[in-house]
Amino acid sequence: MNLQVKSFEEYQDVYNYSLSEPEKFWAEIAENFLWRKKWDQVLEWNFKEPQIKWFLGAKLNITENCIDRHLDTLGDKPAIIWEPNDPEEDHRILSYKQLHQKVCQFSHVLQNNGVKKGDRICIYMPMVPELAIAVLACARVGAIHSVVFGGFSAQSIADRIVDAECSLVITSDGGFRGNKETPMKSVIDDALVQCRSVKKVIVLTRSRTPVSMLKGRDVWWEDEVRKVETNGLTDFPAVEMDAEDMLFILYTSGSTGKPKGVVHTCGGYMVYTGYTFANVFQYQTGEVHFCTADIGWITGHSYIVYGPLSQGATALMFEGIPTWPDAGRLWNIVQKFKVNILYTAPTAIRSLMGYGDGPVAGKDLSSLTKLGSVGEPINEEAWHWFDDKIGHNKCPIVDTWWQTENGGLMISPIANVTPTKPGYATLPLPGVQPVLVDENGKEIEGNGVSGNLCIKFPWPGMLRTTYGDHERCRTTYFATYQNMYFTGDGCLRDEDGYYRITGRVDDVLNVSGHRIGTAEVENAINMHSDVVESAVVGYPHDIKGQGVYAFVVCPNMHGNDNLTRKDITMTVSRIIGPIAKPDKIQFVSGLPKTRSGKIMRRILRKIAEGDTENLGDTSTLLDPAVVEEIKAGAL
Ligand code: PRX
Repeated sequence: MNLQVKSFEEYQDVYNYSLSEPEKFWAEIAENFLWRKKWDQVLEWNFKEPQIKWFLGAKLNITENCIDRHLDTLGDKPAIIWEPNDPEEDHRILSYKQLHQKVCQFSHVLQNNGVKKGDRICIYMPMVPELAIAVLACARVGAIHSVVFGGFSAQSIADRIVDAECSLVITSDGGFRGNKETPMKSVIDDALVQCRSVKKVIVLTRSRTPVSMLKGRDVWWEDEVRKVETNGLTDFPAVEMDAEDMLFILYTSGSTGKPKGVVHTCGGYMVYTGYTFANVFQYQTGEVHFCTADIGWITGHSYIVYGPLSQGATALMFEGIPTWPDAGRLWNIVQKFKVNILYTAPTAIRSLMGYGDGPVAGKDLSSLTKLGSVGEPINEEAWHWFDDKIGHNKCPIVDTWWQTENGGLMISPIANVTPTKPGYATLPLPGVQPVLVDENGKEIEGNGVSGNLCIKFPWPGMLRTTYGDHERCRTTYFATYQNMYFTGDGCLRDEDGYYRITGRVDDVLNVSGHRIGTAEVENAINMHSDVVESAVVGYPHDIKGQGVYAFVVCPNMHGNDNLTRKDITMTVSRIIGPIAKPDKIQFVSGLPKTRSGKIMRRILRKIAEGDTENLGDTSTLLDPAVVEEIKAGAL
C-alpha cells in the first residue's frame, strides 16, 4: 500500500480498511520499509497487563532505513541542513553519504568506549548535527538512547541517568541559544556526582567554554573520531535488532511523582514515524522540511530525525531561537533554504505574532507549501495569522495532536487531503481508533459530544512500557478505563465528527508546549527551606498557553516577599530547570483543604484563572475563610 493517500475519499477508504483489517493494513504499510527479516506475526496485544508487540520476529536496524537504503538513490542529496544560532556563522549541509560516514565513525567511537547492544546512553547536547549523529549511532550499535533536553537541570539529568542506569553520557562543552551561552559539560559534572553507573563521558567541542576533563572518564569527541579515521574505518555494519528491542527512552512528566521513561521499540516506531511523516506532510522528494522543535523532545525525535530520514527527506535543524537576533529569524531561514514544510508550535506563533507584521514584511516565503502545528491547542487568532501571514492562504495547516507516548501523529489533517478547520486536529489517521468516554468509562457515541480521549486499539508507535516500572505504565495509561489507552486529554467531537483537543484533564500543565507535572513543581518549591507547603496550578497565558501559578505557605520567610519569590524561583530552576519556573507566586496562610486533608485544586484553578465569582461548592472545606484570603490576594 502506498504511504500517501491522495484524496479525501481515498483517506476514508483506507481508514475504513484500517478499522476492519488492522493487521493487514499495517502489514501492507510495513512493506514500504527495509527489514532484514520480515515478521512472523503482525500483532499480539492486550491492554490489561498491558502487553503490546508489533511485527513479531522481524529483524531490522532503523538506521539502515534512515540512511543506508537511500545511499544509491539519494546519496549526494542533503539529509540534514543545519542553521547555527548565529546567522553570521556558516551553515552546514550533510548529504546522506556524509551522514552515513559520520554515523558509522561515531558508532565505532561508541564501540571503542565499551558500548554494547542494550546499554543505555544519556545524550545532553545543543541542537547541532552531532546530536542527530549521536542518536543515530546509538541506534546503529543497538544501544538505547535517552536524550535529555538541554534546558533541564543537573538534578533532572541525574534522576534520568539513575533511573535508566546509563553507562555513558554524550554532551558538549556548552551551547548557544539566542544571546546566551549555556554550559553543558559542567552541568553533567554536577549530575554525575550522583550517578555511579556512568563510566564514560564523550564531550563535543561547540562553545569552547572551559571544561574540566576527568582522567579515565572524559574523552573528547574529536579525538575519538580522529582515532577511528586514523584506523581507516569507514563502515560500521548495523547491529541486527528485533522489532521489539528497545530503541529509546524519553522521559516525560505525569500527574504524580518523577518523570517516567517512555519506552519505544525499533520496528513499530520506525513504521509509525515514517508512515505518518510521509502521509500527513505529503512529503515530495526534494522538499525541505523544517521542524522547529528540539531533538530533546519527542517531536524532534520523530519529525527531525527518524520520520524524515526514513523517507529520504531533507530535514532542517536550527540551533537557535525564533526571536534572535530578531523576530524575523524563522522567516530568514525559510527564505535562505527555500523551506517547503514548516512545522512549529502555537507558542512560537503567538510570540512572533506579538511583534506585528514588520519582521515578516519583505521576506520571501513563496517556497512554503505546507504548515504544521504541534504541542498544544492552537487558538483561532494564531491559526489565522499563521495561515494569512506565513502561508499566504495557500498552505494547508496540519494541526497534529499526539503525545510522547504515541510515538507519532495520531489525530491530524492530511495536507491537501483533509479539509481543515481552525482549532481542530480534525480526524484520526488510518490505524488510529479514538473514543470519547465519560467519567465511568462509558463510550460516548455520536457527534456533537465531548469527553475524555482514549484510544481503543493499538498502533505500532505506541509506548510499550515505562522503563524499569511496568506497573506504572499500567496504572497511568491502562487502568483508568478498561481496555483502553487513556491520553489524559479532554476532547470534543463536533457535528462533522471533527476532533478538537481541549487540554489536559489531569494535573499536567502545558507550558509553551512543554509538559510539566504540577506535583514535580510543588516538590521543587517545597525543597526551599522557608516553605511549609505549596500547590501549583495552571492559568491561561497569552504566549505560553499556560502559565505556572504557585500558592505557597511560607509563614516565617527569611527576607521580604520579592526576595523569597526569587529564591523559590531559583530553587525550581535548580531542581527541575528554568522551563518549570513559576510565573506567579502568591503567599498564602493556608491552602483550601477538605476535612480529609485533600487540597481542593479546583478552587485554586478558578482563582488563578481570575474566575472568583463561581467557585462552586466550598462547604466541604475545613476552613472556608482561607478561600476569601486567597481570593483577596490573587495576582
Ligand atoms: O495535551 C496534549 C498536548 O500535548 C500533550 C502531549 O505532550 P508531549 O508528550 O510533550 O508531546 C507534545 C508533542 C507531541 C497532549 O496530551 N498536545 C499535543 N499536540 C496537541 C496538543 N493539544 C492540542 N492540540 C495539539 N495539536
